[in-house]
Amino acid sequence: MTATALSPAPKDAAPSPHHLETVLWVKHWTDRLFSFAITRPPSFRFRSGEFVMIGLPAREELGEKKAILRAYSIASPSFAEELEFFSIKVPDGPLTSRLQLIQAGDQILLGKKPTGTLVLDAVRPGKRLFLFGTGTGLAPFLSVARDPDAYARFEQVIVAHGVREVKELAYRELFTAEIHDDPLVGDEAKAQLAYYPTVTREPFERQGRFTDLIATGQLFREVGSPFERFDPETDRAMLCGSMAMIKDTAALLEAHGLKEGSNAEPGDFVIERAFVG
Ligand code: A2P
Repeated sequence: MTATALSPAPKDAAPSPHHLETVLWVKHWTDRLFSFAITRPPSFRFRSGEFVMIGLPAREELGEKKAILRAYSIASPSFAEELEFFSIKVPDGPLTSRLQLIQAGDQILLGKKPTGTLVLDAVRPGKRLFLFGTGTGLAPFLSVARDPDAYARFEQVIVAHGVREVKELAYRELFTAEIHDDPLVGDEAKAQLAYYPTVTREPFERQGRFTDLIATGQLFREVGSPFERFDPETDRAMLCGSMAMIKDTAALLEAHGLKEGSNAEPGDFVIERAFVG
């Protein structure tokens, strides 16, 4: 190593609040949805299900003074080499209008403090774990469901993805096929993971909002439950999506006797709003 490389940073230089990482791949699912992955700095640690700030540097040539950052759930599990994200594209969204144009090799800002409540540590031990995500609210559950810890803690893990149109069922291939060949969780996924997609605005093998599937008992019949309701003794849940979905689904969970938890006080279910804009 040269003397230059060892020189300390100037005393008045504030440490950067963000890592600068490189885009590894981008996958466009529809004109409204895409996923991408970035390099993971060696010092960056997180728990499966957490979110972090990501964004794009200010374009100084356009007179921009500040970077734009938003909270994004990390879709890859805690031990993954790369950091994956699942994003909406909002045509005039301050961040996503630009983010949707990224390509492999581009640079992305990554916050240094991942956090969040959609983590296994925030739910009490149980037998069944329901992961309810609408739209890009699936993202944290892509992380949790690819973590062997989920299968060590629960006998059954149900990934419920609610969308308007069939084409929005991103990651359907992952949950119906690819995950079964995963070297780390393949066997567990085959035995313990149920993928439960539902579509609300066009014909599909299953239709209806989570709230209706719960209220009519259809969800419980389809996952082989002995009762047509949640059991506070054994059922745990995580919710991620729009405010309205979270509010209405949480009300049903509470009506069935489940209590909301947090990192400080683990409970029967935890919630987090999905990023939009
Ligand atoms: P719907 O098509 O009946 O509105 P969005 O893209 O608006 O976030 O919606 C994603 C999915 O979440 C859609 O299937 C939508 O159903 C559903 N959804 C929206 N609001 C609620 C709610 N309050 N409770 C349950 N599901 C909801």
